[in-house]
Amino acid sequence: MNLQLILLATFVLLKIHGSTCATCSFAYATWGYGCQLSNQIIENETDLIVIDGEHVEGHGDEDVTWIGSENSRISFFPNRLIEHFANATRANFDKSQMTTFLQPVNCGRLIYLTLEDNLLGGIPDEIFTNCYNIRTLVLSGNNFGSVGENALIGLTRLDSLDLVNCNLSSIHPNAFSSLRVLTAIALSFNNLEFLDSNLFKYASWLNTVRLDNNRLRTIPEDIFLKDINLRLVNLSQNQITSISGATFSSRFWISGLVDLSNNLIEELPIFELTTGLTHLNVDNNRIKNIKPQTFEGLWSLNMLRLGNNLIEDLQPGSFQGTRSLTFLFLNSNNISELQPDSLNGLTVLRELWLTDNRLTHLNASPFTSMNSLWTLHVERNQIESIDRQLFHVLPSLSYLNLTGNDDTFSIYRDVNDNPIVPQIGTCSSGSITHLELLVLVFLLTSRYFI
Ligand SMILES: *[C@@H]1O[C@H](CO)[C@@H](O)[C@H](O)[C@H]1NC(C)=O
Ligand SMILES: *[C@@H]1O[C@H](CO)[C@@H](O)[C@H](O)[C@H]1NC(C)=O
Ligand SMILES: *[C@@H]1O[C@H](CO)[C@@H](O)[C@H](O)[C@H]1NC(C)=O
Ligand SMILES: *[C@@H]1O[C@H](CO)[C@@H](O)[C@H](O)[C@H]1NC(C)=O
Ligand SMILES: *[C@@H]1O[C@H](CO)[C@@H](O)[C@H](O)[C@H]1NC(C)=O
Ligand SMILES: *[C@@H]1O[C@H](CO)[C@@H](O)[C@H](O)[C@H]1NC(C)=O
Repeated sequence: MNLQLILLATFVLLKIHGSTCATCSFAYATWGYGCQLSNQIIENETDLIVIDGEHVEGHGDEDVTWIGSENSRISFFPNRLIEHFANATRANFDKSQMTTFLQPVNCGRLIYLTLEDNLLGGIPDEIFTNCYNIRTLVLSGNNFGSVGENALIGLTRLDSLDLVNCNLSSIHPNAFSSLRVLTAIALSFNNLEFLDSNLFKYASWLNTVRLDNNRLRTIPEDIFLKDINLRLVNLSQNQITSISGATFSSRFWISGLVDLSNNLIEELPIFELTTGLTHLNVDNNRIKNIKPQTFEGLWSLNMLRLGNNLIEDLQPGSFQGTRSLTFLFLNSNNISELQPDSLNGLTVLRELWLTDNRLTHLNASPFTSMNSLWTLHVERNQIESIDRQLFHVLPSLSYLNLTGNDDTFSIYRDVNDNPIVPQIGTCSSGSITHLELLVLVFLLTSRYFI
């Protein structure tokens, strides 16, 4: 018997027992040529003694650029696989029931590593020190509990770190200190109650920070470096009761976004000068009042969401100084009356949402400076009358939605306070009470009222 035959026989035997061998399905994918470990069970080092599989014609192990693990169980981090396919740059061991790293991770040339939805119970110290090429590291869906001071040491080129849903309740203040080029971090869906103000001290390239769905009660006002270009800070779904006006006073990119929705904020600070922040979402908080000049420092603010709060009375000057505000959402508050100066400063506003409040009249005076207002939503209030002057002070108004207001609504006052019957859209005449619809949607311009 020749040697080859013996080897083959041993091989077949090993395969039957299935314990010393991992079999790749070699294939082309978006990322190039790679090894997909389909339906493999790799429980210990012995299972990786032989790595085989049938190559696509003309290819060999040296051509493998990615490694996958679809429907496989790989109970420890398979360093040997990475060593074997030393040219691989991407490895995906998601949903592999991995419970331990066993040894420091050998990343070889990997630039992308994902270990999502495994059973890893912690990040051992210095586990990634051989991972200086990694740009993207996805660790979400594990049960780490915390991130220690030395857990992420060595990831000096890391661009994006994903630790979503890792049951994190603490992060060491220095945990991210070696991640000097980090641009995006996702820490959503954890149990974080507190963040150290030094956490992002060295992250001078940071632009995207996802912290939504934690238990944060506050945010240190100096957590972000001041001269960076933030793009998105998501703090939605926490228990934040107050924020400082300085927290976001960094530079933002051209379309920066801060999401503070679904928290417990009772009062907004007067925001310090912040350029580039275009969207601010404070929906679903407990805001009752807005102090004058609150938003003046937000030079680029274009969209402001204040829906589902407890605002009853808008103070004069609440929006004073907003120079770019185009969309304002005040829906689902408790506003019953608009004071004459309460909407001052909204000179470039195009859309105003006042749906689901308790307005009974639409007076003209609060709207006098709103030359650009195009759309006014006042659905589901209790509006009984509209000042005819409204259409004169709002020269650009072309959409007014009154759905769900008082069904006896029929009174319009003209300049002499006489009732008038408007012409509505395609209806050439008829008083509103004659309309079948209690619900009125006007698509009109002021010329109908001249
Ligand atoms: C490796 O796992 C196999 C089962 O897959 C088991 O039979 C063997 O004893 C294990 N070896 C070691 C060294 O743990
Ligand atoms: C990596 O790729 C190069 C060039 O294709 C090849 O010469 C080398 O053998 C490969 N290394 C391994 C370990 O496959
Ligand atoms: C999350 O961590 C806590 C300890 O901080 C632990 O009691 C809890 O069981 C963990 N949750 C899960 C789903 O493992
Ligand atoms: C912030 O996170 C919440 C909750 O996960 C999500 O619904 C929302 O879309 C996010 N906001 C932004 C601006 O991405
Ligand atoms: C709205 O205001 C009315 C009276 O001003 C008050 O009775 C009511 O409790 C308020 N609703 C909420 C949700 O605060
Ligand atoms: C007016 O508002 C109602 C309720 O929000 C909506 O269903 C309807 O489509 C709107 N009408 C128009 C013409 O946009």
